Parts: sequence; structure tokens; C-alpha cells
Amino acid sequence: MNRPMHQPANRPMHQPMDRPMHRPSNRPMHRPDVILTGIKPTGSPHLGNYIGAIRPALELARRSPEAHAMFFLADYHALTLVKDPARFRDLCHELAATWIACGLDHERQVFYRQSDVPEVFELSWILSCSTSKGLMNRAHAYKAQVDRHRRGAGVADGRDADGGKADAGGEVSDAGVVAGRDVDAGVNMGLYSYPILMAADILLFQAKYVPVGRDQEQHIEIARDIAARFNRSFGEVLTLPLYLSDPTSAEIPGTDGRKMSKAYNNTIPLFGSREQLRKAIFGIRTDSSPPGTPRDPGTSLVFQIYRQFADGDRTEAMRSRLLRGRITWKAAKEELFDLVDGMLERPRAVYEELMADRSRIDRLLEAGARSARELARPTMEIVRQAVGR
Ligand code: TRP
Repeated sequence: MNRPMHQPANRPMHQPMDRPMHRPSNRPMHRPDVILTGIKPTGSPHLGNYIGAIRPALELARRSPEAHAMFFLADYHALTLVKDPARFRDLCHELAATWIACGLDHERQVFYRQSDVPEVFELSWILSCSTSKGLMNRAHAYKAQVDRHRRGAGVADGRDADGGKADAGGEVSDAGVVAGRDVDAGVNMGLYSYPILMAADILLFQAKYVPVGRDQEQHIEIARDIAARFNRSFGEVLTLPLYLSDPTSAEIPGTDGRKMSKAYNNTIPLFGSREQLRKAIFGIRTDSSPPGTPRDPGTSLVFQIYRQFADGDRTEAMRSRLLRGRITWKAAKEELFDLVDGMLERPRAVYEELMADRSRIDRLLEAGARSARELARPTMEIVRQAVGR
């Protein structure tokens, strides 16, 4: 890679020395580095998904022609949340069409649906058997859910929600009960063991680099821990993955200033109609200062989103107009709309064409799954042999 993405200081690019040196390596030699990432279909794709996940992953693949890039729909991960089968099918097709419309090249990159690769679930079980329950207790998504119950908010199935006001405090007993409440209420086992399934997604393909947003970094660290533990028990079988987050395309704010997320209802849709796009952009929160007031680009949501799409010159021009009070919010939103709408014009046509012929999406995914299963085979052979099967 000619522009390495951000690595946290304590995670060097090389593999750390936390594997016993006396173990023989069972891993096949001379395989290209694998770059892999997935997204779960839990809501219609929005600009935040594009900026935070899809664009950096595709760019990394483009800049790393010597590596092997794999992208997938983490569809069974979404089952912890999505309970409506028709909606689930729609969301999977939408996400697949989005990846392709945004530039995924399914001829050069392996593109598949997780649930078409049964080896993922076999590996997930094997890994579960050497993963400590305590590691799962520390996972952010599960902990956040437990904290909500501690505070007294009754929320089911891992859905995001506002926390309750009362803080029950107190220790969690072995049975997970605080002040008479079950802190695990509404936590399904899928949510609890989510990080293990995610580790299986990654480790099955011996992926080395996993481009993800900041909110997923802990999951990659957990996958490393799981791989290291497996290797300590069974020999040097699994590659320890590293996450890559791109500092230049950070999260973009939603229309209300919080992180753009379906859960907050503050998203700007990627492939809705032009009217929906316009409506969402004009709904971005601004202050009520009169025209002519100098504006701080650093706190302007319109600017934060604009800069992710504009080139350097346009970004600077917009920054200076805001600073000098030379542009109204309405005009700034109009420019943002034109910019994003223009950029989405061609991808939108590809997206719509695919969504009009979903069997084509299915065929693409099936072909991708065949390649993925082929690539999974050597790892599974070594893993099965390592555990003594
Ligand atoms: N947890 C990721 C998300 O919330 C999706 C995901 C599942 C993933 N398996 C993965 C990401 C493996 C990277 C690698 O979007």
C-alpha cells in the first residue's frame, strides 16, 4: 500500500511477537495479503456508510493492487436486529446494489453474502469453544446494552435508544441481576456472540487488513485476541488481523449533529430519489443567524459534510465564504445538494438498474460465494486438523 492508513501507536504494522516461536507454521506460504471488510444490512445505506466505510474500503483496494480484496454483506449479523423477512431481503439487495454502484468491481474483488459461506459458521463455533465468556462481556455493544438496563431503560434486541434517567448503580451478580432487574433482558445470544462471528468472518480468510470505522476497532482487536488464543492452543494457524481506519474520511455528522445513524433518524440517503436527497440536505441543522453573519466552518454541519465530497479548492472557497459571511445557509445547502446529487447521478443509475433486476444481484453474490468458499477451504482444512477432527 503506498498510503498506509492510520494505525494506532501500539499496533505496529508487522505482526507482534505474541505467538510462541516454537510452534511450526501450518499456514500456506506466499499468499497475497488479504484486505477484507463487511457491512451489515440493518438500514438503507446513507452518506455516512459511504464516507465512513464503503469509500475508504474501495480506495484501499484500489491503492493495493497486489493484495486480495474481499467485501461481503454481513447478513446474518443483521439478524440480531432485523426481524422482518421481507425487509431483510430488501436490505440485503439494497446493500449489494450500493457496493456495486459505488464502484466495487466484482470481477477483480471477491464480493459475497456471508450466509452463502457455511464455513463461516463452522469456524465461528470452533472459535466459540476457545473464547472466554469474559471477553464477550467486555464488548462495547453488549456492554452498552447492559448499561442501559442498569440505568433502567427497557430496550430489547440491541436497538439503540435513549438511556433511562434513574441510575440503579450496584454490582451485577453472577446471574446478571442488578437491583432486581435482569440486565441481560432483551439481549439475544446473537448480540452477545456477535464479535465471535465477526472474528470468523475475518480469520476464515486469513485477512491481514480490515478497513473499518472507529466504532468497529474494538471488534478487530477482539478478533486478534481470539486468533492469538486459538494459535496458543493449536499452533500457528490463524493470521492476526489489523484494523485500518482512514483519518481523512472520518465519520460525518448526521443532519442533527450527532453521528449519522439510522438509529438517530438523522441520515441522508445515498440512493433515495433526488427529492429525498434535497429534503434531507435542507433539513441539516443550522443556526438562525441573519445573512451576512460570519460563520465558523468548524461547527457548521453543512460544511462538515460538504468537505467530504468537494475537492480541495472548492472546500477552501466554501470555507472562506462562510468565514466572511458571504454565503447564506440556504445557498450553502443548495451547493451541497448540487455537489452530492451530481456525484450520485451515475451510481444512482447503476443502483436502480440492479434493483430492478434482483436476480442479477443474486447471481453476482452466488458467484462471489463460490470464490469465497474456495478461498476458505485451506483455512478450514488446517483448522479442522488442528483441533483433531
Ligand atoms: N460489525 C460490522 C458492522 O457493524 C460488520 C461486520 C461483520 C464486519 N463482520 C465483519 C466488518 C468483518 C469487518 C470485518 O458494520
